Amino acid sequence: MNLCPDDQRPLAMELDIPALKAAYPRNEWYERERRDMWKFTSLLGLDINDAEDARHLVSLGEGATPLRNYPEHPQAKLLELDLYFKDEGRAEPGYGANPTQSFKDRGMAMAVSMARRHGLTKLVVPTQGNAGDSLAEYALAAGIEAAIIMPGDTPMPILGRVAALARQHESIILETCEGTIREAGDIMRSKYLPAGYFNVATFQEPGWRIEGKKTLGLEIAEPRSGDTWQLPDVIVYPTGGGTGILGMWKAFAELEALELIGSQRPRIVSVQSEGTAPIVRAFENGDDDTAAATAGHTLATGLNVPGGVGHAKVLQILRESRGHALTVSERAMEEELARCWKQTGWWISPEGAATLAALAPLAEIGFLRGGERVVVVNTGSFEKYLPSLRHLL
Ligand SMILES: Cc1ncc(COP(=O)(O)O)c(C=O)c1O
Repeated sequence: MNLCPDDQRPLAMELDIPALKAAYPRNEWYERERRDMWKFTSLLGLDINDAEDARHLVSLGEGATPLRNYPEHPQAKLLELDLYFKDEGRAEPGYGANPTQSFKDRGMAMAVSMARRHGLTKLVVPTQGNAGDSLAEYALAAGIEAAIIMPGDTPMPILGRVAALARQHESIILETCEGTIREAGDIMRSKYLPAGYFNVATFQEPGWRIEGKKTLGLEIAEPRSGDTWQLPDVIVYPTGGGTGILGMWKAFAELEALELIGSQRPRIVSVQSEGTAPIVRAFENGDDDTAAATAGHTLATGLNVPGGVGHAKVLQILRESRGHALTVSERAMEEELARCWKQTGWWISPEGAATLAALAPLAEIGFLRGGERVVVVNTGSFEKYLPSLRHLL
């Protein structure tokens, strides 16, 4: 199935935690040295310790990305923050690497593996770009057909890569649309779903992409040394549909059920662009869900998501965690990107730059406190946006 037939909300995979505890009393499910997201083996909905599951696994080295300390950042210096940068973009020796240079690979590795496990042969995704790039890569590796629908103004490194794959392989279809992921969704519903494609759009598949994104939260919490799992005080996340937030939240709930962490949670912050900010508007208005917004223009195309079935849950998590939601300007994003490049040489995406740009306003309103441990998530790579960003280098 896709959405829950009762309330038309996203589904999630429920794990049998007591059974997991009994099977692995010393948390043997955790393979610390493994260099991909499958290091969490049986704590994932597709269990590589299960022979039948393992047979359907499609892995291209995704996850196990670096969590880098960033003490040079001006806000880290000013507030003496213990600032970390979770880098989902560029490959680095000694770590895993997302094959299409964005965190979407975590969700798609899981979704395509689960699709294979369930005998599906045709998948479709409407996308702002990165999820489509990722689906094309995994579907090819899995021998599954995929139709990818994205806005025609998607940055060329992303659009061009999928176009090249579609040209080389009959099993990959690329279709472009005017507008955003919303209009791409309309094409999916009118053309591909009636033709028998299974919908793996954000939250529309039964919890698989959340399950993959969960590994981001598990990695943020995993022991750096010794055996202690720990959470930061704050996580700043660039939010479109919100899969990453739901995934991390699920990770923390399961770690608590396993008694590896307590009930305390990081304060979760959603960052959106000024152009398209349905979550920020709803958060500010005290609403339970977002209202359909008109999409604007932003360099951070991954954030140009005017609405989503998961937004109600995102808002719930922001409030439960005593978090926040805010917009950042295009200019602030550009400045952070340029600064980060000059200071560190990291190859960050505009979405990642948005999280760094959020630190100063968060400090200004007193949300961040001196000495706190803060993780910002860089969800993609500069390289995928190069034509529109190269002037910043
Ligand atoms: C680079 C990047 N960052 C962030 C997002 C937003 O992701 P989520 O759906 O988890 O909010 C996207 C979505 O397309 C993206 O491509």
